[in-house]
Amino acid sequence: MIDAISLLRAFTRLERKRLHLGVSGSIACYKAADLLRNLHKADINVSVTVTAGARHFVQPLLFSSLGAAPVYPEMFSGEEPFAHLEPGQSCHALLVAPASANLIARVAQGLAQDMLSAQILAFAGPVGVAPAMNTLMWQNAATRANIATLRERSVTIVEPDSGTLACGSEGQGRLAPMSCLLAQAMRLLAPKDMAGETVLVTLGPTREPWDGVRFWSNPSTGAMGASLALAAWMRGARVHALAGPGIDTDLVPALPGLELTRVKTAREMMTRAEELWPTVTMGMFTAAVADFAPVLYGAGKFKKASSPDGFSIAFTPNPDILATLSAKKENRRLLGFAAETAADDAELMALARLKLAKKGVNVLAANNVSQAGSGFGTGTNAMAVVNSKGREEHWPLQGKMDVAWDLCTWLLNS
Ligand code: C5P
Repeated sequence: MIDAISLLRAFTRLERKRLHLGVSGSIACYKAADLLRNLHKADINVSVTVTAGARHFVQPLLFSSLGAAPVYPEMFSGEEPFAHLEPGQSCHALLVAPASANLIARVAQGLAQDMLSAQILAFAGPVGVAPAMNTLMWQNAATRANIATLRERSVTIVEPDSGTLACGSEGQGRLAPMSCLLAQAMRLLAPKDMAGETVLVTLGPTREPWDGVRFWSNPSTGAMGASLALAAWMRGARVHALAGPGIDTDLVPALPGLELTRVKTAREMMTRAEELWPTVTMGMFTAAVADFAPVLYGAGKFKKASSPDGFSIAFTPNPDILATLSAKKENRRLLGFAAETAADDAELMALARLKLAKKGVNVLAANNVSQAGSGFGTGTNAMAVVNSKGREEHWPLQGKMDVAWDLCTWLLNS
């Protein structure tokens, strides 16, 4: 299954970045071990501090055994006199997951009586907290005020999820899902060179009905578009992901500033894209839009008995969403895709050049769908990339998040 976690785990463009992970006393602290493993899969180096409260649930040895280095001891218990300053000097970002009500209060107050609180106080880079606690503790006016204080200081709050809590009550307070934690950790580490951009990403297939229950479609999973949406979001953009039906619900996590709208047909995608267009500064068109829609046989189910010898379906052309919006491009930057069957690299590049001009985009990325591992339903793509300034490159087979990252960079520079 292709989901956001698998896309992010295979992402290498933040490799060798260092994240300091704080683990504080919540029942959810066992989930921090999984977060550590996922960060390691993306080649991010992680150091850890486990608070005294968290040590009632998990031991620091768990994190050092999983490769975190260093795992800091409690204040005044180790040999190193400046351990409380170290993450601030060596790490690019700091995330506390889970963050207990007590830890959040200590950070809001600027207390420094324990190792993690002192390390946060001495951290000048991006900081995030992922709260996890009982709903009443989360809703308490004291916690609300502390969270507001942290937001004012530009601390990223990874909003807790709603559902059944470990104590049995229902409500908001569960640690955010892993896909959100991982994406937010990476966002803290990422450059913010797309801040101020509003990006429209079309993704997935469209479904064109030919009777009340059947449709014409294609096997697009939306993985390339989800990768672009995540990459642009991590780099500070506001993102509207406009997805066709059938894409995995775990592909686009619920993140603030990343809105997902689901549509079914090409015409619905066109209508919504046109509504969004006035606010958009960048367009990324990855959707495998059905070029034709069948003429409807009727609102009900087409009966086998009504045509025992078979039948024909007539098709009408769908709007070309990219071409339509490209005609209203103004100073927006646009990225188009092309799925081609080419005999070799040279032919693929020639087709990419032609489509760049035909669609009026700044960057065109073409993949050879006849090559194994590239195109529909895979986590990887090999691309021929051209831009309107005449730059051309062949990219070997690589993860879709890496492709997305590099395409964002191209679009910023095209
Ligand atoms: O012409 P072709 O279908 O090869 O163009 C592919 C590009 O155009 C992709 O970026 C795709 O998302 C976009 N497209 C579109 N609406 C269509 C067909 C393609 O936006 N009806």
